[in-house]
Amino acid sequence: MTHRIYNFTAGPCTLPLAVLESAQAELLDFQGCGMSVLEISHRSKRFEAVHEETLALAQELIAAPADFQPLLLAGGAHQQFDMIPLNLLADGGSAAYINSGIWAEKALKEAQRVGDAREIWTGRDSGFTTLPDALPPLSADCRYLYLTSNETISGVQYRDYPTTVSRKNSTACGSAIRWRCTASRTPSWLRATKPQAAQRKDRKEENQWPRHLKPTTN
Ligand SMILES: Cc1ncc(COP(=O)(O)O)c(C=O)c1O
Repeated sequence: MTHRIYNFTAGPCTLPLAVLESAQAELLDFQGCGMSVLEISHRSKRFEAVHEETLALAQELIAAPADFQPLLLAGGAHQQFDMIPLNLLADGGSAAYINSGIWAEKALKEAQRVGDAREIWTGRDSGFTTLPDALPPLSADCRYLYLTSNETISGVQYRDYPTTVSRKNSTACGSAIRWRCTASRTPSWLRATKPQAAQRKDRKEENQWPRHLKPTTN
């Protein structure tokens, strides 16, 4: 291997060579079973062991207390823009959103398709270069407060934030998570209160579909 470069951009980064080589070898023959992990049954003992180990490692990596359980979910942060309100807001109450930039605004718009999601602060006037010093009062029926810990486009990031529900994406695993003030997170570890599939069945109106999942008619 002679041509390996570093990637310092936001998003995916370079992986250790040993990890890539191991994945490469196991793609042809996983643990001597003659197939790749992509080809074995998802109900097989071998795969179940991979699944269990992945969950345990994820729990350790993000230092989650034992009463939090990682969920491995399809989709990225955009999916959580929708899943968080579907799980926490669809059956009533309101949600408070701090609009700190592009990501927060996208999350707010998706939540407004599901329920009563309110923008309680916006950084629009400063071109999304500021964050609130203090939180405005929350209404009595507020189910959760939503903030974007790291606005990666405009480049504003909380150094600390008050007791709240938060989503984590670009800072996941890069900073300690304050579990006791965090009820749900993104991209993969949302602590669901209701199964998403059950919630989706309620979405009869076409315009209620999240933008990134909107079904087409042709
Ligand atoms: C803060 C933040 N939110 C949301 C996203 C969108 O993530 P995804 O592409 O996984 O939906 C990103 C990705 O760059 C991000 O940095």
